[in-house]
Amino acid sequence: MRPQFITFEGLDGSGKSTHLRMAIEWLRGQGTEVEQTHEPGGTPLGSVLRAALLGGEVTPADGVVELMLVFTSRRQNLLQRIDPALAAGKTVICDRFTDSTYAYQGYGRGVAMEAIAALDRIATGGRQPDLTLLFDLPPEVARQRSHSHRRQAQADGTDRLDAEGLEFYRRVREGYLELAALEEERFRVIDSSGPHSETAAQVRQALAGLVAKESAVRRQG
Ligand SMILES: Nc1ncnc2c1ncn2[C@@H]1O[C@H](COP(=O)(O)OP(=O)(O)O)[C@@H](O)[C@H]1O
Ligand SMILES: [Mg+2]
Repeated sequence: MRPQFITFEGLDGSGKSTHLRMAIEWLRGQGTEVEQTHEPGGTPLGSVLRAALLGGEVTPADGVVELMLVFTSRRQNLLQRIDPALAAGKTVICDRFTDSTYAYQGYGRGVAMEAIAALDRIATGGRQPDLTLLFDLPPEVARQRSHSHRRQAQADGTDRLDAEGLEFYRRVREGYLELAALEEERFRVIDSSGPHSETAAQVRQALAGLVAKESAVRRQG
C-alpha cells in the first residue's frame, strides 16, 4: 500500500493536537514512519502566513483574503513537506487541510463553495487525504477547552478567529459534519466531547484499521 496521507480536523480545542501527538507515538510504535505537519503553517512561508492570518493583520475579516492565504500556505506545505515525505515512503499526518477551508471560510464565513473548489484545483489539484479524523464536539465545550489550554500555554490568550461568536463555530461544526456525511469513506467522526481515554480509543481504532490494511498488503507483497 502506498504511504498514507492522514488529516486531523475539528474546531479549535477539539483535541487535534493532543491526539495527534498520541497517534504519532502509537504509529511509530507499530513500526510506521510518520511525518507531522500542520496548517496554516508547516513551512517557513506558512509560518509567516499563519501569523498574518491569526494575528489580526487580516482586518476586517474577509473570507476571500483568508481563502487565498490558507491555500498559499497549503500549496507550499504540499510541495515542501507532504509530497516529499510521501515519496520517501512515510505516512503523513497533517493538523488541518482543505476541509478546514470548506468548514471555516465556506460554512463559517459564507465564501462560495465553488470559489473554494476553484482555488483548491489550482493550489492542490483537488488533492484529498486518504483518511480524515473529524474531532466533533459542541462549540461551547471546544471553546472552554481551548481557553483553559491557552491560559496554560500563553499568557495573552486569544487570537482573531478565537474572537468569533459561538454562532460562527456552530456553522463551522455543522459544516464539518456535512462534509463528513458527503464522504463517509474518507472521514471518521470521532466523538471528542467525553474524557481523553474515550476519544483516544476511537482514534486508535481508526488508525488500527489503516495499520492492519498496510501489513496485509506487506504480507501479500
Ligand atoms: N477528550 C478529550 N480529547 C482531547 N482533549 C481533551 C479532551 N478532554 C479535554 N481535553 C483538553 O482539551 C484541550 C484540547 O486542546 P488541543 O488538543 O490543543 O485541541 P486543538 O489542537 O484541536 O485546538 C487540551 O487542553 C486537552 O487536555
Ligand atoms: Mg491544535
